Amino acid sequence: MEPWEEHAIRRPTLPSRVTVYEVGPRDGLQNEPETVSVEARVKFVDLLTDSGLKAIEVGSFVSPKAIPQLADTAAVYRGIHRASGTRYPALVPNLKGLERAMEAGVREIAVFTAASETFNQHNIQAGVDESIERFRPVIARAQEEKIRVRGYVSTAFGCPYEGAISPDAVREVVHKLLDLPVDEISLGDTIGVATPAGVYDVIESLYDSGVARGVLALHFHDTRGTALANVYAGLQCGISTYDSAAGGLGGCPYAPGAAGNVATEDVLYLLDGLGIESGVSLPGVVSASRALAASLGRRPPGRYLGAVWGAA
Ligand code: COA
Ligand code: ZN
Repeated sequence: MEPWEEHAIRRPTLPSRVTVYEVGPRDGLQNEPETVSVEARVKFVDLLTDSGLKAIEVGSFVSPKAIPQLADTAAVYRGIHRASGTRYPALVPNLKGLERAMEAGVREIAVFTAASETFNQHNIQAGVDESIERFRPVIARAQEEKIRVRGYVSTAFGCPYEGAISPDAVREVVHKLLDLPVDEISLGDTIGVATPAGVYDVIESLYDSGVARGVLALHFHDTRGTALANVYAGLQCGISTYDSAAGGLGGCPYAPGAAGNVATEDVLYLLDGLGIESGVSLPGVVSASRALAASLGRRPPGRYLGAVWGAA
């Protein structure tokens, strides 16, 4: 007999504490048609800091031709107030990016590759193995400087060019990144196709191959409305770091048709309801999204934000 037939609801054991890794200033803004001013981005990051977030990805040091919206990330770093105990990582594709980041006082970086060869070619003009080779000198330099490194695996649950991605492909690239080494791996559903079944498959395959729970983070986009269900599936698997963007903005110009990141407010509402601690104030994040909305001239798509939008 199934538990629900006995009217016995078994509540799964979930992590008691979660880290919300805010990607709004980077993933959230890299795909906006207009560049948001440095001043508005500084204010956005400062309000996110005030909300109690402990990790805020401020921008990227990639080719300005690839992502003109974030070309002036160094100026944003110069303007923000850094709280002690909050990390302010930046996305970096190569050694040139690391050097620019270090000049801006960045102490944590994220390198990025993908589980799909074709997506990688479009995004960073390199295949998976070539991208790993490109990271070696970046990691060596970062280690000298005691800079923490996160590795993103984009298209871990599906690719806009190749379609389905097997958990084996994800496992292979995850191990290549861990061997570099990187300190943390974020598995990205870049186009927002995952369902909880895919989350279980990928994470089970990683656990089976010896990957530790604590090094994994999950990064969902909400294209098909499954992002929050996927966060819940991740919690059931014991994962305790989730990427999200205030207001639910975001996307990658090289991932056509993808919607924004799961909204930070929506993740916090879920966590609060489940009694999972994050140390982040939900009204604080709403304030940051409202400030950004004023600069964008429109309401961002996050669901919780929509529910409280008209309230004073
Ligand atoms: N910062 C600034 N400029 C950079 C740079 C960096 N980190 N890396 C390369 N460039 C410049 C080079 O100086 C060169 O400029 P030039 O044309 O004026 O001489 C140009 O970019 C090409 O350099 P190259 O090393 O040949 O790079 P590439 O053409 O093979 O492109 C990347 C590779 C990774 C630099 C580029 O694809 C990129 O920045 N992609 C980022 C995409 C992204 O951020 N996507 C969203 C995140 S998912
Ligand atoms: Zn993303």
